[in-house]
Amino acid sequence: MSQSKATVLVTGGAGYIGSHAVLALLEAGYNVVVLDNLVYGHRDIVEDVLKVKLVVGDTNDRVLLDNLFIDYDISAVMHFAAYAYVGESVNNPAKYYRNNVTGTLTLLEAMVAASIKKLVFSSTCATYGVPKTVPIPEDHPQNPINPYGATKLMVERILSDFHTAYDFKSVTFRYFNAAGADPEGRLGEDHTPETHLIPLVLLTALGKRKSISIFGTDYPTADGTCIRDYIHVKDLASAHVLGLDYLLKGGDSQIFNLGNGNGFSVKEVIEAARFVTKQEIKAIECDRRPGDPPALVGSSDKARKLLGWYPQYSDINTILSNAWQWHQKRHGVK
Ligand SMILES: NC(=O)c1ccc[n+]([C@@H]2O[C@H](COP(=O)([O-])OP(=O)(O)OC[C@H]3O[C@@H](n4cnc5c(N)ncnc54)[C@H](O)[C@@H]3O)[C@@H](O)[C@H]2O)c1
Repeated sequence: MSQSKATVLVTGGAGYIGSHAVLALLEAGYNVVVLDNLVYGHRDIVEDVLKVKLVVGDTNDRVLLDNLFIDYDISAVMHFAAYAYVGESVNNPAKYYRNNVTGTLTLLEAMVAASIKKLVFSSTCATYGVPKTVPIPEDHPQNPINPYGATKLMVERILSDFHTAYDFKSVTFRYFNAAGADPEGRLGEDHTPETHLIPLVLLTALGKRKSISIFGTDYPTADGTCIRDYIHVKDLASAHVLGLDYLLKGGDSQIFNLGNGNGFSVKEVIEAARFVTKQEIKAIECDRRPGDPPALVGSSDKARKLLGWYPQYSDINTILSNAWQWHQKRHGVK
């Protein structure tokens, strides 16, 4: 590890992407404090694997935040804490607006009060809605088609207004589909419930699920199934460190897509998983789900140009084999 740098507060650092970002921050020499309410996060990952300070608490708790900013000399915040189940956001929108928007607003107000004005924010390609062009550039119109996407767009607007009002600097990353796991097997994806394709396919390979559903086989794509842009979580984490470095060096507010630039269809992912796991993996073809665009692929040229970020793990077999290694370990198979 290099010489110790600034201290960063990572909200949601006990979750999937946040925990990989904490590891990348530690490897880059930063000190880290994690704030997570553990609704979905894992205490063991923060305390036993990452071995950093875990504050169990909520971004909606202003008193806790004020005390946290007094107790620790925080230079910047990486903000991953949010709820991210699209279907649940449709059925229970208040839960999403309260957590993702009000929780973030509370955090931002506490940061301004403590004169901490640098934030790296997890946004999403779900803010674009159904794309008009693919690959999607950052200036593509944003028309989210579910409350989850709307909450993230609202935060983007709040960040823009905070920039104007308080000279608050932020780097917003709109991720495409986060996937994979730490190549050394220390961390990985462990959502309950799980809704993402790659872990569901791997849980099927492990025998924890009977089959994987393919929603729609009549899309206007080569094999009729939806195409998504899978970005390795380690590449996401390295982008976050570059975004933080950029802000700490005095960089102005920016918004970046983070994707691979390469799309893979649902059938291609399942086929690659059969190859990597050497398991049969039963797939069942079902009707389309409402609101699934045929293809979501991002252009990450801006992050490459401005941050010098290049995805190192863009190959789908590498993404799957890193995730497979983690899943076997987490489920006691290896
Ligand atoms: N996973 C993806 O493919 C993806 C894609 C685009 C954007 N994102 C965004 O990235 C971020 C991280 O996603 P993830 O997949 O790691 O999710 P995750 O659920 O694994 O991690 C989120 C963490 O935040 C915590 N949390 C939630 N609300 C909180 C609150 N109010 N206060 C404190 N802690 C809270 C949870 O306990 C959890 O540990 C989220 O903001 C999500 O919207 C994820």
